[in-house]
Amino acid sequence: MTDTIDQGALPVHIGFIMDGNGRWAKEQGLPRTAGHKKGAEVVRLVIEHAKKRGIQIVTLYAFSTENWKRPKAEVKTLLDLFRKYMNEDIRELQKQGIRVSFIGEREKFPADMVARMNEIERETMGNKDFRVILALNYGFRDDMIYAIKKIASDILDRKYLISSIDEAKVNAALSTHDTPYPDLIIRTSGDQRLSNFLMWESAYAELYFTPIYWPDFNEHDLDDAIEAYGRRSRRFGNIAS
Ligand code: FPP
Repeated sequence: MTDTIDQGALPVHIGFIMDGNGRWAKEQGLPRTAGHKKGAEVVRLVIEHAKKRGIQIVTLYAFSTENWKRPKAEVKTLLDLFRKYMNEDIRELQKQGIRVSFIGEREKFPADMVARMNEIERETMGNKDFRVILALNYGFRDDMIYAIKKIASDILDRKYLISSIDEAKVNAALSTHDTPYPDLIIRTSGDQRLSNFLMWESAYAELYFTPIYWPDFNEHDLDDAIEAYGRRSRRFGNIAS
């Protein structure tokens, strides 16, 4: 790998489906939770490297609406990791001028976490250098249901007519309303699906699947994904120019 990517377009917004923590741990003969701990270190590295590469926004799928089905002990480990991340790492990101926000229904988390999420968003709102979005208790279907309810209630309140519902109004009702659509979605661990992640927003995203487990994913793998993106021809339904 070279150190500079000198051809092709750079994605503005990358979404990460961080998969394979459990399989990584199993292959090392470790408990699944060890995979999540190593995964949290990779989150640090990926944010740092994406920023260095000139990416402007990263969205990380850290906990889905379906992940509550996991054994209690695993959910607890993940929550403890998120709490630690919010109290330690995010303070560091804050110092670096990074804006951090969350998508997903946060009220399901313990009150101290909700308070910290609100505080982080408030305190970093004005930061412009780079943006990190953590998807926590996020699922696209829930987000879409919320959006439909919001649009229905706006119509009942006579804010606008049914005939004026368009892409912009749907966007405005989604939790991702203040970010551009992702250009590239990277999923680690070999599985090739979106798993309820940003499904409206990713309609024209380039999808990049790598067999590497998330705990093994490193800056060179991110460079590979960015380079692969640069070689893609994005036509958005149009023809090549
Ligand atoms: C998927 O791997 C990963 C998760 C459900 C959790 C993601 C969490 C992290 C990467 C660590 C903490 C993150 C932050 C932001 C501090 P899996 O457990 O489904 O792996 P498997 O498919 O191999 O079982």
